[in-house]
Amino acid sequence: MTQFDSTLQAISSPNLRENIVITHSNTAYRFADTVVAITGAAAGIGKTTASLFAQAGASVALLDMSPAVSEFASALGPMHQGWTVDVSDADAVARVARQVIERFGRVDVLVNNAGIGPLAPAENFPLTTWDKTIAVNLSGPFLVARAFAPGMLARKQGRIINLASQAAVIGIEGHLAYCASKAGVLGLTNCMALEWGPHGVTVNAISPTVVETELGLTGWAGEKGDRARATIPTRRFAKPDEIASAILYLASGEAAMINGANLLIDGGYTIT
Ligand SMILES: NC(=O)c1ccc[n+]([C@@H]2O[C@H](COP(=O)([O-])OP(=O)(O)OC[C@H]3O[C@@H](n4cnc5c(N)ncnc54)[C@H](O)[C@@H]3O)[C@@H](O)[C@H]2O)c1
Repeated sequence: MTQFDSTLQAISSPNLRENIVITHSNTAYRFADTVVAITGAAAGIGKTTASLFAQAGASVALLDMSPAVSEFASALGPMHQGWTVDVSDADAVARVARQVIERFGRVDVLVNNAGIGPLAPAENFPLTTWDKTIAVNLSGPFLVARAFAPGMLARKQGRIINLASQAAVIGIEGHLAYCASKAGVLGLTNCMALEWGPHGVTVNAISPTVVETELGLTGWAGEKGDRARATIPTRRFAKPDEIASAILYLASGEAAMINGANLLIDGGYTIT
């Protein structure tokens, strides 16, 4: 029986239904000799993604505004390094990108993951909060991609994965700036994919529903969260490793033909 057959059997067998629900891996991606840069790597989805890439043999550059990123990078091992940087600070991003290239020689995969989600009613949305959200969630991915893409284009090989959100394609109460910034991430993804695809660099977006991280659970705690779960066809939120696994897939050789896509990981919420 092949691995594929046994996976099918597991999925079709009622007493193994848990296999469909509980995150497990049947696919071991290998990223030896691969340099991966991840923003927002000190917590949540970025931290889990850094761990999975490290386990798969990659060298990981972990970028985060939290100084905790350095300690986490050290804990992952000597092949990895952390940098404290605000992705919305153009000069700081350029400086850190140079240091990453000095340390690792190149970046093969960029995961634009750092993001924030401050909430306020649309009619009272503070301009400073709007500006900050756009700066981190939309200008950040532009600045970091701008720093690493030239090397990828010169080598005619690269992968960029941008964290958008289901909020990019639907309206969510209180999420004015977040929705606008994430819709912008899809526009940015489309243009980069169009311009860079012919040069061996694919650019894709991932759009999760609520993910069980500090960001997700802060906004969707208690009864509000219970009500939200009830509206998702799979009746639950996503787990960080379910998003990280999809990021590894999009970074893999198997995903070479996927370019300019927006992968919704929302349990079917946006079809309702
Ligand atoms: N958690 C969710 O429910 C959810 C759903 C859809 C999309 N997303 C997106 O996934 C990404 C990661 O979300 P998460 O839930 O892991 O968030 P998180 O809050 O758990 O972690 C985000 C990380 O980004 C870092 N960060 C924030 N601002 C930064 C900046 N200016 N510069 C550098 N680093 C910065 C934080 O320090 C933190 O380590 C975000 O882009 C988010 O919008 C999250």
